[in-house]
Amino acid sequence: MSFQNPYNQSYALQATETLESEACIAKPIEAQRRTFLKGLSASAIALSAMSAHNGSALAQTANRPPNQPESKPMFFTLPDLPYAHDALQPYMSKETLEYHHDKHHLAYVTNGNNLLKGTEWEGKSLEDIVKGSFGKNAGLFNNAGQHYNHLHFWNWMKPNGGGAIPGKLEKAIIDGIGSVDKMKEEFIQAGVTQFGSGWCWLAVKDGKVIVAKSANGESPLVTGAKPILGCDVWEHSYYIDYRNRRPDYLKAFIENLVNWAYVEEMYEAAIK
Ligand SMILES: [Fe+2]
Repeated sequence: MSFQNPYNQSYALQATETLESEACIAKPIEAQRRTFLKGLSASAIALSAMSAHNGSALAQTANRPPNQPESKPMFFTLPDLPYAHDALQPYMSKETLEYHHDKHHLAYVTNGNNLLKGTEWEGKSLEDIVKGSFGKNAGLFNNAGQHYNHLHFWNWMKPNGGGAIPGKLEKAIIDGIGSVDKMKEEFIQAGVTQFGSGWCWLAVKDGKVIVAKSANGESPLVTGAKPILGCDVWEHSYYIDYRNRRPDYLKAFIENLVNWAYVEEMYEAAIK
């Protein structure tokens, strides 16, 4: 399987807005789109990534022409969405998911694979790559961090989402933040006040549920916390559907899109 990268390393080291705008025009590489993770659990992500990694290694070996040096297998792969592209309408459109998943996430996968080659993090888990490259290798961190964030983001949403929060998680939210309404208010406020591109979060730190926000591809992982819910507030996530109305997007996300069962899975994993 050949692996074509539309960008070189200098692309990934450029400023944030360039990263986002250039990702808009990245060409889909269909060969990378057929893999895994449909209906995955939080804990299955690392295992699935490794499985896809091994699978692509086998395919590469089988298809490699004679006398060609063995190339490194891809580590990051783009999972299919766990629902149809139009399944989140009217809160998130088919067009948004076609751009966001098929082009933006794919660009992080493509660049991440190229930037990982030859680094000390080759062969490490995705979480270890994200945490290890933070502050040391900006290009790799930006792409690996966004790959991690988006792998979960697709699963933090579902058709007919929102609604009741599972009891144990609800209690942890009330214990940590005060009430479910306060959590929603603070989560939306974190997303609204994140200047420029970034994310807002629910995370577990020192056993307690907190609200956080971060810039660009960062996540609570780099502050010693464990993310359990994140909302992408890069413009590519909402501008087609909401234009500049980021607060409306965040309200729709928390009220109508969140897959609370998946959040609970991540909470359970975070407190172990
Ligand atoms: Fe995104």
